[in-house]
Amino acid sequence: MAAIAHPASCLSCALLWQLLVQHHLCCAALRVGDSPHDGEPDYAEQLRAAAAGNATRVAVTGPLQKIGEAIDDFLIPRLEWRFSHCSGSRRKSKCVLLRVSDTALRHFRVLDSLQFPADTEDPNRCPATIKTSSGWVGQATEEDFYFSFERWVSDVKDSKKRTAFLPVWSDPRMDSHPAEYFSPFCGELDVSSMTASTVSPMTRQECFFLPTSSCTMDTAHWGKNLVDETDMAVPFRHRLSKPFDHISSGDLHVMWQMLFFRQNARTRDEIARREAEWRSENQAWPASGAGPTCAAIHVRHGDKLTPFWIKAHDTIAGGFNKSFDDYLDVALKMMKEKPQLTDASRSKERPLVFVMSDDADIIAKAKGSRRAVVHTVSPGTPLPSLSDTLADGKNDFGYAAANSGDMLSWLLSIRLMSACSLFVGNTESSFSRFLYYGMCEQRNGICPRLFSFGRRLDESPTIFEE
Ligand SMILES: *[C@@H]1O[C@H](CO)[C@@H](O)[C@H](O)[C@H]1NC(C)=O
Ligand SMILES: *[C@@H]1O[C@H](CO)[C@@H](O)[C@H](O)[C@H]1NC(C)=O
Repeated sequence: MAAIAHPASCLSCALLWQLLVQHHLCCAALRVGDSPHDGEPDYAEQLRAAAAGNATRVAVTGPLQKIGEAIDDFLIPRLEWRFSHCSGSRRKSKCVLLRVSDTALRHFRVLDSLQFPADTEDPNRCPATIKTSSGWVGQATEEDFYFSFERWVSDVKDSKKRTAFLPVWSDPRMDSHPAEYFSPFCGELDVSSMTASTVSPMTRQECFFLPTSSCTMDTAHWGKNLVDETDMAVPFRHRLSKPFDHISSGDLHVMWQMLFFRQNARTRDEIARREAEWRSENQAWPASGAGPTCAAIHVRHGDKLTPFWIKAHDTIAGGFNKSFDDYLDVALKMMKEKPQLTDASRSKERPLVFVMSDDADIIAKAKGSRRAVVHTVSPGTPLPSLSDTLADGKNDFGYAAANSGDMLSWLLSIRLMSACSLFVGNTESSFSRFLYYGMCEQRNGICPRLFSFGRRLDESPTIFEE
């Protein structure tokens, strides 16, 4: 412990010392996978060899389960590499990984060196900036964590600290909302009795996604003492040369999404299974990467249109009271402006549109539309209707009932929407941003064109274009 010296940030030494004593972080060794059995190819090693040098695309072929694990081992410390897709049978599957563009590469290498340091002097201790949140997916990831990530990037940039960023989607002080998101997909954990002392807060996140850092919060010390945003600064071993310069807030959003929402093998497999099933019933939908021939729409209604939030967040002026046709008008206009956004081979057919909403009225309206061929994915939990809920004088939109079935349906929707180069939503909604930046993540950083009904201006990413 004595090895930790002066904080470079504004925290006083006394405070830092107190934090250190209170919070014990472990630096988990990176999972390297079992050593391959006799005669079994070492798929992770194959990937590492193929990715060396200046490769931007690598493929690996083998039994799906084996290569899935190898891909995870390969990906964990390499944020610049992204899973693309697999094809073939389960026994002989070919999976493709893509690297981010050259312009994004150096920023991702900086992120790797901070998140997955290879040179820690004390492998039992990771200097980290910890942020906890137990908000719903949009609130947690696009607000609580994202803003903290942005501050952390800025502190790293200003040489104020050199830590890893450790987002923990749980909160030691309160009953955690998002716990439901992980059940039942993540096993038979009784989330209602999931207490700080019995379950590591990392296990939930890592049930769906790859670790964000080699730092991890250990079960024993999770709980009582963690403050809202905990900074622990350490002495500089060496300075990063101008880390994160010339990146826009759009770049940061995409980078954040690429850090937090990297699906692990189990999730990828489940989403691929659901995608194949969905596509067998929706054969007109363009293949991922097939070209920009569709539009994705997310209509956020729900609590934004209750009297309370109309007043508190001025949501009418924020563009939330829009109908399905308002959204479709924009999408069709954008497709017309760029004819390549409509599938020429289907010019006699109506445009292809994917629709998501938290309002059953919107989905019903969309499905009945004669102006477009509308595709949807069934939600895990049935959607309430805005008109019925308001007519009953209620304000419960069932967000608390969302479970892993909903999480999987969102991830599948994002996957399918990412085939489109166009997104119409309202990015004043953090859930809408989760979807939009999720599409960017699935498209290897290349964001779709965005139209937002809200007042927020989202900067376009600049570092991911080829
Ligand atoms: C990698 O290849 C790209 C073009 O494909 C080139 O612009 C870049 O300079 C190369 N980088 C290195 C380190 O060779
Ligand atoms: C929302 O829009 C509908 C249709 O334009 C309108 O009838 C309704 O009054 C609007 N609601 C509010 C609260 O402004």
